[in-house]
Amino acid sequence: MTSNSPNFLLPVPATSLQIPPQAILQNGEQTLRFSLVLPTYNEANNISDIISKLSEILDTEILGEYELLVIDDNSPDRTWEIAQNLIPKYPQLRVMRRETERGLSTAVIRGWQVARGDVLGVIDADLQHPPETLLKLWREIQRGADLATASRHLDSGGVSDWSMIRRVLSRGAQLLGLVLLPEVIGRVSDPMSGYFLVRRNALAGVTMNPLGYKILIEVLGRGNIRWISEVGYVFQERQEGESKVTAKQYIEYIQHLIRLRLSLWPVERFLRFGVVGFSGVFVDMVVLYLLHDGIFNLPLTRSKIIAAEVAIINNFLWNDIWTFGDISTRQRGQRQRIKRFLKFNLICLTGLILNVALLNLLYNLLGINEYLANLMAIGLVTFWNFWINLKLSWRVTEID
Ligand code: GDD
Ligand code: MN
Repeated sequence: MTSNSPNFLLPVPATSLQIPPQAILQNGEQTLRFSLVLPTYNEANNISDIISKLSEILDTEILGEYELLVIDDNSPDRTWEIAQNLIPKYPQLRVMRRETERGLSTAVIRGWQVARGDVLGVIDADLQHPPETLLKLWREIQRGADLATASRHLDSGGVSDWSMIRRVLSRGAQLLGLVLLPEVIGRVSDPMSGYFLVRRNALAGVTMNPLGYKILIEVLGRGNIRWISEVGYVFQERQEGESKVTAKQYIEYIQHLIRLRLSLWPVERFLRFGVVGFSGVFVDMVVLYLLHDGIFNLPLTRSKIIAAEVAIINNFLWNDIWTFGDISTRQRGQRQRIKRFLKFNLICLTGLILNVALLNLLYNLLGINEYLANLMAIGLVTFWNFWINLKLSWRVTEID
């Protein structure tokens, strides 16, 4: 059976959920400009309609340069079979039937893995995502966006007829996401959207690890996405079939947030920062000894100030070369380095003030033993120092 024969079903990739940097082509096949995935589960009554509408719209813009990928999870209503029977009429259509794996997000990724396009997309198959919006999204990508996403929360967007409870749940989920993953959820107005296009480049080689429904969060969290464009749309009422959302999807969403949070936390960097911090303590001690006792006999306070500054310089150099080395090389030049050093110095100084304040608070107000209190204060200040330095001194700038 060849890939052109009507009964051809796409094999399900047996690999991990990694997006290939380049389209994997069978002999004679060409790369396409666009691959749009339609995940389906029991959409027998919608599938012909949506395929026809999408084809009509895309033919006006990129005839012969796109494909539609229906990824069905062995629907009891045989959506996959209906889709398969449409292939002779729509040669740009390809169908995958998954018999073991389940779930919306992994279906989308399996589709992208076999996709031949340079731009990857996803749309619900139940016509709740208006097909007309697709061209607006496509044009945003043509303008240079890495990600173009449809949003219900822009001026031109909305939900047609949602109950109060569903609105509250949806906004609550977004709020929870903002607390747990601000740097991901905060980048778009509608992080729950399942209607978006993304450049393959932005996901090339990335291994996805999603859970449940919200694939956009995964793309924003793990992809290399700089330019984001949003397009408003109104989420339509479902005419046929029913939504698969149950309480399970909400629980999976929370699990997904936590999983992403843990994997995006810069654990390794933080450990390096800690090691450098320790080296600083050692430097501080040695310099203090040399100045105060060893060679110079300087007074204690003066010795300590110099010792602390030497330790700060020591820490800065190691952090600049090692802890944040990958970022420093992107901000080249002596001036940039001096800027980073001055910021680092300032942050360490505020850290010191914070340290003293915390020590006093814990010891005087809470009556905690002073050494234990000092240890706790140092721990907290290390977090502070790390985080603020990451955000200010070695900030990854969007343009480099
Ligand atoms: N392959 C596969 N496997 N497809 C699935 C599965 C699954 O387990 N579950 C759902 N789908 C398909 C549906 O057939 C439909 O095409 C699409 O995924 C969305 O599922 P719905 O059940 O219709 O979801 P919804 O309308 O309640 O929820 C939607 O909420 C968001 C609102 O912003 C999500 O689907 C988002 O895509 C949407 O944007
Ligand atoms: Mn739906």
